[in-house]
Amino acid sequence: ALPQELIRAKRDGEALSPEAIRELVGGISDGSLSDAQVGALAMAIFLNGMSASETVALTEAVRDSGELLAWGGLGANQDLPGPVLDKHSTGGVGDLVSLVLGPWVAACGGFVPMVSGRGLGHTGGTLDQLESIPGYDIAPSRARFRRLVREAGVAIVGQTAELAPADKRLYAVRDVTATVESLPLIVSSILGKKLACGLDALVMDVKSGSGAFMPTPEKSRELAEAIAEVASRAGTPTTALLTDMSQPLAPCAGNAVEVRQAIALLTGEKRGEESGEKTDGRLMELTRTLAAELLLAGRLAESRSAAVALLDERLASGAAAERFERMVAGLGGPADLLERRDRYLPQAPIVRPVHAERCGRITRMDTRAVGLAVVALGGGRRAPGDAIDHAVGLTGIAALGEAVDGERPLAWVHARSEADAERAAMQLLAAIDVNDVGLGDVTLPTLIQ
Ligand code: URA
Repeated sequence: ALPQELIRAKRDGEALSPEAIRELVGGISDGSLSDAQVGALAMAIFLNGMSASETVALTEAVRDSGELLAWGGLGANQDLPGPVLDKHSTGGVGDLVSLVLGPWVAACGGFVPMVSGRGLGHTGGTLDQLESIPGYDIAPSRARFRRLVREAGVAIVGQTAELAPADKRLYAVRDVTATVESLPLIVSSILGKKLACGLDALVMDVKSGSGAFMPTPEKSRELAEAIAEVASRAGTPTTALLTDMSQPLAPCAGNAVEVRQAIALLTGEKRGEESGEKTDGRLMELTRTLAAELLLAGRLAESRSAAVALLDERLASGAAAERFERMVAGLGGPADLLERRDRYLPQAPIVRPVHAERCGRITRMDTRAVGLAVVALGGGRRAPGDAIDHAVGLTGIAALGEAVDGERPLAWVHARSEADAERAAMQLLAAIDVNDVGLGDVTLPTLIQ
């Protein structure tokens, strides 16, 4: 059919057949659809939505628009002696789960070919974090990527041009046509890329709260449910957890500072006064829960408690840290990063505490604004292609409900200049509410909903 007739059908609220969807996505990939047609299609989908079946067809068409990785994990070929597993999040602040989870799952017998993204808007990105490690190559050859997944059990890399190319074009058009916030378009975009990686199982971390990409808890829940259903119907067993982003997940946000935190967690070190015990606890709890989901789905553990026991054993033995080190060395980074991180990871020239204007407890945080403060320090991008400063960010971020005063700051700012530090301090003061209340008066959101 003519593309304009298919677009007309969607415009008029009709459901598109899987064949029609495949044809349209083919036209997006091969360029036979014009930008105007792609934009009109996106708007028709935005306004009229899609049924679950249409969303499954769209996801499969996006997935199949480029190269498909195949590993023969649990399947017939037995290329790899274990399941191929992955985690993806909708994006957060202080979200360094991937850096810890990938090596940790690998140490438990999973294989993790993790294709990650860069920071988007106020959120951090795993690739940006990893690029604070000198030499780390986020774009290895396919052969090197495959070898590393086989030998280290984990490789975290960037998207290649061959992976789900339809999404690349569709996303670029959505970005400039006010059609990003559409459930079927988001689901097919995220899953189209992930399901092209030949996974045996996927776990999705869908964020909710002031730092989430979806505007309300209801929309976050809808997204989580849609992702789990569509991915599973498209043949990749997937669970989605709805998790809290009403404060940064880790007690730090930035790039090198998050890599440091990941190394500290993997090696089981206690850090100094900035360690933020409580928030370390939240990050580790979520990472452990997501990893346990994967071990269960990949049949590496018989029960949730057995999964957690295996995880804790492989963390304590140093096996998870060792996988991280192998991944870093295998992708061109230093072989002794864990031992000599201060030599390799960049540090900002200015580090100063930011104190609240009054004593009290933290009652609310605008996590998005905290993320934007990191972007303004240079830790994220204003426009695609901007260079970022890996050294800057925040550490020792106090948690919701925590008491702050003249001794305990809201956070430490790591900045390139005094002026940058001052601006970040102002942004933090505006983003974090401190009130003279008891701990019982602060609503602490559930981490995993
Ligand atoms: N991330 C994606 O990859 N696609 C979307 O549409 C939204 C978030």
